[in-house]
Amino acid sequence: MAMSVLGATMAGAEPPKGEPFGKTSRGEPVELYTLKNKGGLTAKIMTRGATLTELNVPDKNGDVADVVLGWDDVAGYESADNQYFGCTTGRVANRIAKGKFTVLNKEYQVPVNNAPNALHGGVERSLDKVVWKAEPFETHRGQGVKFTYTSPDGEEGYPGKLTMEVSYQLTGDNELRIEYIATSDRPTPVNLTNHSYFNLQGAGSPTVLDHEVTIHADKYTPTDDTLIPTGKIDPVEGTPLDFRSAHKIGERIEQLDKTAAIGYDHNFVLNGASGTLRKIARVKDPKSGRVLTVQTTEPGVQFYTGNFLKGQKAKGSKTYAHRSALCLETQHFPDSVNHPEFPTTILKAGDKYTHICVYGFSAE
Ligand code: GLA
Repeated sequence: MAMSVLGATMAGAEPPKGEPFGKTSRGEPVELYTLKNKGGLTAKIMTRGATLTELNVPDKNGDVADVVLGWDDVAGYESADNQYFGCTTGRVANRIAKGKFTVLNKEYQVPVNNAPNALHGGVERSLDKVVWKAEPFETHRGQGVKFTYTSPDGEEGYPGKLTMEVSYQLTGDNELRIEYIATSDRPTPVNLTNHSYFNLQGAGSPTVLDHEVTIHADKYTPTDDTLIPTGKIDPVEGTPLDFRSAHKIGERIEQLDKTAAIGYDHNFVLNGASGTLRKIARVKDPKSGRVLTVQTTEPGVQFYTGNFLKGQKAKGSKTYAHRSALCLETQHFPDSVNHPEFPTTILKAGDKYTHICVYGFSAE
């Protein structure tokens, strides 16, 4: 049934329908939505964690493959082997040093789940683990689903009641457009992202070391050996992080083998004005010809090359080897809440957090 959302539902067009996708271990029913476009792309997103579970994309010969890591069922997503595959991540994505921060002179301690730091919003009720409410829609751009979740004051230790909306839309231009909105009744840190892992040869292909990457960033935020920024902002020039022209991931990654990140796991300070949607990265797999472009309004992107993947057997019984996928997580800088010199992540009461991330696909 065509439900009118955003007042722009097209005559005769059918918004996607949700299908049952099992239950969480708490007994909550989970639904899966399938978005399709004329370019032959299909995206599947489930209500647990507003998570992208599948993204099917044609290659240069028109052969379609699922290019994102995931699991076949909710139990897989709940397992210890799930490393945030495809989820909406927060309330504060990335790391907070020792899980401590101060807002309005009050000190907060959030769970330390990546010793000695807090990672990706918490333990039991981080945004990847809660079930969001879904509302499908269709506009001139294409099919979409809007997910909403209100995180109560104090959830996972964070102050303020945080009301969030994440919408995914598959456009006629072969883009998966993700838009975030959040408001709070008290000042609170917010840093949302999507944690999709891509392998443009298809999820489960052995490596991404042959993928060619360009990132439009002159600078990055160096870290200590627990991956917390030192506060410095350094040039990428002369380092293996210089992706201002295309480089294969495997070309220089060994220089990072002995670092805490064991590869690429860095926040890049993106060129151009944050708040403006701009192209920030391009990834090409020479074998399939698939190309991913990333646009965002955010000031940073965490480029992570799956260094902690450990051969877990997941969706379709495929194995996810060390460095067999990459993430480009558009976001504010890690531990911003403890770095007043970084763009702020504090959302004030009455203000609106917005963030757009567009993953675009083509083949050549
Ligand atoms: C992010 C972090 C990585 C790792 C993954 C999840 O990308 O930067 O260090 O924790 O999430 O495994």
